Amino acid sequence: MKAIVVTDQAAGTAGMKLVERPEPRPAINDVVVQVHASGFVPTEMAWPSTWTDRRDRDRTPSIPGHELAGVVAALGYGTTGLSVGQRVFGLADWHRDGTLAEYVAIEARNLAPLPGDVDFTVGASLPISGLTAWQGLFEHGRLRAGQSVIAHGAAGAVGSMVTQLARLAGAHVIGTGRAADRQKALDFGAQEFVDLDSGTLEDVGSVDLVFDVIGGDIGKRSARLIRPGGTLVSIVGPSEARPVDGLAIDFVVESDRAQLSEIVQRMRDGRLRTNIGSRLQLDRAAPGEDGHSCSSVRTERRRPSSLRLSVE
Ligand SMILES: NC(=O)c1ccc[n+]([C@@H]2O[C@H](COP(=O)([O-])OP(=O)(O)OC[C@H]3O[C@@H](n4cnc5c(N)ncnc54)[C@H](OP(=O)(O)O)[C@@H]3O)[C@@H](O)[C@H]2O)c1
Repeated sequence: MKAIVVTDQAAGTAGMKLVERPEPRPAINDVVVQVHASGFVPTEMAWPSTWTDRRDRDRTPSIPGHELAGVVAALGYGTTGLSVGQRVFGLADWHRDGTLAEYVAIEARNLAPLPGDVDFTVGASLPISGLTAWQGLFEHGRLRAGQSVIAHGAAGAVGSMVTQLARLAGAHVIGTGRAADRQKALDFGAQEFVDLDSGTLEDVGSVDLVFDVIGGDIGKRSARLIRPGGTLVSIVGPSEARPVDGLAIDFVVESDRAQLSEIVQRMRDGRLRTNIGSRLQLDRAAPGEDGHSCSSVRTERRRPSSLRLSVE
């Protein structure tokens, strides 16, 4: 099969190479999926799990990419709940070969059925941003209707999902980002917007929940805005400051079949919109395959993390 592999962490995305690899074989409880669309985030090059297995042993050459949508091609021993030919989407294991390939082996529990009326590329754009927003707002942030939320980076991949899901849950949403992101954040449903380069975050007053996708100084200042009993949720590592009378939580997204199904249902009935940056064919995605480099794609589109690589 065709796959993109990386071998050299120092090379970053410039080290991505299109190669021929054997098709993966399904292990116990695995599914082999023929990948139709995949999501890739350039920051994966900095994640230890891209380079090593769970015992910290070198696993290069490794295949990046963790979001996928496709069709079940084979089942491993003992795999139940999914069948060959079924459309699926989900989040691949951080420590195994990923989704920038024609086939991937993935545990069945990391997949959910993809309804027939949802495009594969849309399906592949949902798992990381959708599950991260869902888990941060509802599991870690315990968001309730009527509460107020600051959605940092509201025009980005995760922030736009946070904005939409928080609004659907009946919250008041204040989006943040750069000046140029204002209209996009408002279009995703933010009721107010703070330009972090020139506006004053503190003017917002106190809120019940801050969803931080930026960290650093923004995270520290956000901690001071949390109301008693509120929560600072970070997806960029532990916050350097904690709310005086509230919780600070950081987490890494996990796959969850029921949540994937809830998210895709909201997409189908028009309550959610996806936020896709660029779409590329697999054999044009690796640097050098068509003269571009991944870092130039990144510059052009401004939102590397929402890059989707279509493998159709
Ligand atoms: N823990 C987890 O499970 C988890 C899950 C998903 C993502 N993440 C991490 O969360 C972060 C965000 O991911 P994403 O996919 O949403 O990224 P994204 O699509 O690039 O969105 C981030 C948004 O925040 C804006 N932004 C960043 N720094 C800013 C600043 N200093 N001032 C104003 N705006 C700023 C960005 O604007 P510009 O594009 O103009 O910079 C962009 O609009 C990444 O670091 C990612 O690795 C963690």
